[in-house]
Amino acid sequence: MPLADTHCHLFFESFDEDRAAVIERARAAGVERILTLGVDIPSSAASVEQARQYDGVYAAVGVHPNDAARVWHGESTLAELRALAQTDEVVAIGEIGLDYYRDYTPPDLQRSVFVAQLLLAAELGLPVSIHIRDAVADALTIMSDWTAELRARGNALAAHPGVWHAFGGTEAEAQKAIDAGFLLGIGGPVTFKNARERQQVVAALPLEAMVLETDAPFLAPHPHRGRRNEPAYVRLVAEKIAELHACEVEEVIAVTSQNADKTFGWRDIV
Ligand code: NI
Repeated sequence: MPLADTHCHLFFESFDEDRAAVIERARAAGVERILTLGVDIPSSAASVEQARQYDGVYAAVGVHPNDAARVWHGESTLAELRALAQTDEVVAIGEIGLDYYRDYTPPDLQRSVFVAQLLLAAELGLPVSIHIRDAVADALTIMSDWTAELRARGNALAAHPGVWHAFGGTEAEAQKAIDAGFLLGIGGPVTFKNARERQQVVAALPLEAMVLETDAPFLAPHPHRGRRNEPAYVRLVAEKIAELHACEVEEVIAVTSQNADKTFGWRDIV
C-alpha cells in the first residue's frame, strides 16, 4: 500500500538544489502521492508548476493567514486563486487558516480571508488544508459553520471537507473537528521524544480520523529533527503511529492512505 504525504511545501528554496532527487527518494520510500501547498499567489503558482512537472505530486493553492496582510487584495486575489485552482494539478485549497500566535495579519482580516477561501473551496468542490495556531476555538467555529452549510446545501464536499493540518490539539478539539467532518493531519512532532501528551492524544484517535503529513521542509521527525524535512520521512510518522496504536505499520498506511484518497481524489493529471 502506497504512502501519501498530505502536506508539504516543495516550492521552498531549500529544495531548489535537489527537488527531483527529493521526490525520487519519496517514491523509493513508497510515497506515491504528495500534496504540495502554496502560502501566497507566487508559491501557489509554483506548486501547480511542480505538480505538472513531477508524477505523483499534486497541488493546493491558497493564502496562509501569516501572509494574508501582505498579499490579500480581496476579489482580485480570489480571482487569481480561482484561476489557479481550476487547473488539473490542483486537488485542494490550502494552506489556509488562522494563526493568532504570529501577529503578521490582524485577526479580523485572517478570519475574512479564511472564510473567503472556504467559500471558494465550496464553489469549486475542493477540500481544504487548514493551519491553526493559538486560534482553535475560532477556527473550529468557522469550520463547523462551513460544513453545516455544505450539508444544508447538499454539497458533496460535506462528506470529505478536508484536513486540520499539523494537528496538535486535545482529544475534545479533535472530536469537534471530526464531528464537522474533518481529518487530522499527523506529522513529525508526534515522533519527538518530549511529545508525550501529543502521543497520548494520537493513541486515542481512530486511524479512520487521520492522514499522514510531513510539512516539509519544516518539522522533520525524529531522528532528523532540526534538519530539513522531506516527504520520504512520512514513513517515520506512520511507524510512530503504529507503535502508539500497537498495530502493524501496514495497517496505519492502508487506512490513512484510504482516508487521503477519499478526501483528495488524486485525479489523474493530464
Ligand atoms: Ni504547512
